[in-house]
Amino acid sequence: MIVTADAAGIRRAADMLRAGSVVAFPTETVYGLGADAFSEQAIAEVYRLKNRPSWNPLIVHVANVAAARALAAEWPEAANELAAAFWPGPLTLVVRRAEHLTGVGADTGTIAVRVPAHEVALRLLEAVELPLAAPSANRSESISPTTAEHVLRSLPDVPLVLDGGAASWGIESTVLDVTGAVPRLLRPGALGLREIREVTGAIALPDDVADGSARPSPGMSRRHYAPRAKVVLTDEVDASALDGSVGVLTYETEDVPGAEILSADPREYAADLYAALHRLDDAGVATILVKSPPDTEEWLAIRDRLTRAAA
Ligand code: TXA
Ligand code: MG
Repeated sequence: MIVTADAAGIRRAADMLRAGSVVAFPTETVYGLGADAFSEQAIAEVYRLKNRPSWNPLIVHVANVAAARALAAEWPEAANELAAAFWPGPLTLVVRRAEHLTGVGADTGTIAVRVPAHEVALRLLEAVELPLAAPSANRSESISPTTAEHVLRSLPDVPLVLDGGAASWGIESTVLDVTGAVPRLLRPGALGLREIREVTGAIALPDDVADGSARPSPGMSRRHYAPRAKVVLTDEVDASALDGSVGVLTYETEDVPGAEILSADPREYAADLYAALHRLDDAGVATILVKSPPDTEEWLAIRDRLTRAAA
């Protein structure tokens, strides 16, 4: 059921979460499937609904830096500086997990945390007074939801979806491991590497982060973020080969009738990408030809998602 994220909706969602139920809610990146991070039963329901493998841990959302520190065994200086610069916002920090926590899914000894920059998410966190584990609210391996409707389409059994409109970033948070001497990128995402480097200096990149073959974070399976249709990345879309079973996703104004044409600006492209893939799936095409975006760092997160969608 989709509920408007007004005061009554948020109160209802908070009550359900405190009672051990799951609730989907908007963040600035994508919608999350939220659960009380301390409730084993609620966490188990997240894994069940998503069909998520048990080895893939969940990220935890908190209302502020103090609440994040309370979940950590160690809060390194880099975490302090990054949190000051980018929270609330689309950066997830992996730190050593506090001993007393029995874990949010997988037992990695670490915990991934972020303060989301979405008014509804923050009001919900304040109302519920609990850290909320929340992976993207989609079936494992499929496209992340950027609207409340996407959530229900992927997870029809979610009892409540708070509707906060379309997610403004439209792509998941950047995940950065700050447990070592040099911060290490685990997943490229909404927050760009240039911005992060301005705070931390050098960061370690997995060699093959852009080609999709690495699994730097447990959740980075080769295939992920995928629509039903087969995705094929190509440098040149050959419009003459098109018929009703083939859809096209490109980012320039090209004369390809029926194509999804996204912005040539990476931020705007990311904001529309998942919705465009949903639309192409709705159109019932068997194959989606995707024009490969430029091979530059600004497009890193988008290239990562498209490569995994095509795997
Ligand atoms: O933008 C986002 O991050 C969204 C919104 C809802 O906040 N959430 C999201 O969650 O994308 P999920 O579960 O789809 O992706 C979280 C990523 C996964 O790749 C997971 O493996 C990784 O973070 N992760 C979670 N806990 C981790 C940990 N302790 N160590 C390393 N990676 C971790
Ligand atoms: Mg996900």
